[in-house]
Amino acid sequence: MANDLLSSSPAPLIASRPQTPLVGRIRVPGDKSISHRALMLGALAVGQTEISGLLEGEDVLATAAALNALGARAARVGGGRWTVDGVGIGGLGEPEDLIDLGNSGTAARLLLGILATHPITAFVTGDASLRRRPMGRVVEPLSRIGARFVTREGARLPLAISGATDPVPINYRLPVPSAQVKSSVLLAGLNSPGATTVIEPQPTRDHTERMLRHFGAAVKTEPAEGGGKRVTVEGYPELVAAPIAVPGDPSSAAFPLIAALIVPGSEVTIEGVGVNPLRAGLFECLREMGADMAVLNERDEGGEPVADLRARAGTLTGADIPAGRAPRMIDEYPILAVAAACARGRTVMRGLAELRVKESDRLAGIAAGLGACGVRVAVEGDDLIVDGAGNYPAGEALIATHLDHRIAMAFLVLGLATNRPVRIDDGTPIATSFPSFVALMNGLGCTIRGEA
Ligand code: S3P
Repeated sequence: MANDLLSSSPAPLIASRPQTPLVGRIRVPGDKSISHRALMLGALAVGQTEISGLLEGEDVLATAAALNALGARAARVGGGRWTVDGVGIGGLGEPEDLIDLGNSGTAARLLLGILATHPITAFVTGDASLRRRPMGRVVEPLSRIGARFVTREGARLPLAISGATDPVPINYRLPVPSAQVKSSVLLAGLNSPGATTVIEPQPTRDHTERMLRHFGAAVKTEPAEGGGKRVTVEGYPELVAAPIAVPGDPSSAAFPLIAALIVPGSEVTIEGVGVNPLRAGLFECLREMGADMAVLNERDEGGEPVADLRARAGTLTGADIPAGRAPRMIDEYPILAVAAACARGRTVMRGLAELRVKESDRLAGIAAGLGACGVRVAVEGDDLIVDGAGNYPAGEALIATHLDHRIAMAFLVLGLATNRPVRIDDGTPIATSFPSFVALMNGLGCTIRGEA
C-alpha cells in the first residue's frame, strides 16, 4: 500500500459526457481529516474509542498501521466501524521498523507532532509524492519543543525523529496557514508541561481542537492580536475515550456536487456531509458563481456540523475568489477550477502558493490539465485565472496526475462536460481518499471507465 515500489501498476481511466442527467441521493466516505484525528486521539486516550464512518482510504489506513506499530490497537470491526484501544498520553512505544505513511501529509505531520514528545526514536517515510513534500514546517517548531531530527536535504522524508525527554511548551506563530502544522504543535503540547500556544493569522480547519475537547482536554481559542486566532492546549490532560461518528468528507462531496452542476439536467443530493465553516469556502464560491445549491437538514453530530447538500445543474458565471478564503477550501481548487472552466466568464482564484506543496504541484497540474483540454488558463504569481467560455471545453486530453488523487478526480469530472473524453494516466491514487469514487459516480449516471 504505502511504498510506491510495492504499489499496483498505474490504472488509466477515461471519462466522457453522459447521455442522460446525473440523478440520485448518495453518501460519500468519511472525512479524511477527522478520520486521522479520531485514530490518533483514540490512541492517546484512556479506554476504548469507538469510531463509525471512518474513511477506509489508504491515507487513513496508513495512520492506523502506524499507531499499531507504536503500540496502540486500532482494529476494524466492520464497514467504517473501528475501535482504538488507547495507551494514554505519552504511552506510545518505539516502533520496530520504518513507519511508512504512503501518500499522506496529514498522517506524517500530525504523527511527528505526537512523536516529538515521546522519548522514543522512529524512522518515517512515505511514497514518492510525500518524500517530495516539505517537512521543515513541522521540524522547525517541534525542534523548539525539544525533538531531534535527521532529515534529507530540504527537511524531506525519510527522516529520523527522537522525541524530547524534557519537552518545552512553546508559543508558536504559524508562518503558513496550515492546520497540519497547527495540529502537529498542539499534539506535541499534550505531553508537554504547561500551556502550548499556536497563533494562526488566518484561521484553518479546527477539527483537532474540536476533537480534543470531545475527549476532555482543555483547549482555549481566543482572538489573536492583529487578527486570527490563538489556540492554547494545557499539557497532560486526561483524554477519555469517547465515541466518534465521522461525517461525510466535504472535500470528497465536492466532486459529485460539481459534476451535478455541470452535467445538464442533473439533480444530486449528498447526505450527511460535514459543513464545518472552516471547510466551507467552496460552497461560498459556488453560490457566488450562481450555482443552484441548497444546504438542507443542518444538524450537529459529535461536535461537528453536518448537512445534506443538494445540487441542480444550471449556468455558472465566473467569480473573483479572494486569497483569504484559501485556507477554508485549500483542497477544493482542482475541482473549483473545473467548475470555472465550464462557467461563463473569468474566474480568478487568488493566493494559491500552498497548492504548490500538496500531493503534487497542483497549481501547475491544474493549469497544464485545463490547457490540454482547450481551456484558456493562466498562472500569474500565485493566482490562477480561468476563462470559461460558457460551453463545453474541447477535452481530448491525457492528464498527468503525479500521484495526486484530487487532480485525478477533478479531471474525470471535467471529462463529464467536454466535447471529447478526458483521460487520466493513473486512477490508483484515488484510493487514498475516496476508494468508491468511480462506482459512486457511475451510480449517478457518470461514464467513467478503465482504459484497456
Ligand atoms: C489537512 C489540512 C490541509 C489539507 C489536507 C488535510 C488536515 O493541509 O490540505 O488535505 O487534515 O489538517 P494544510 O493544513 O497543510 O494546508
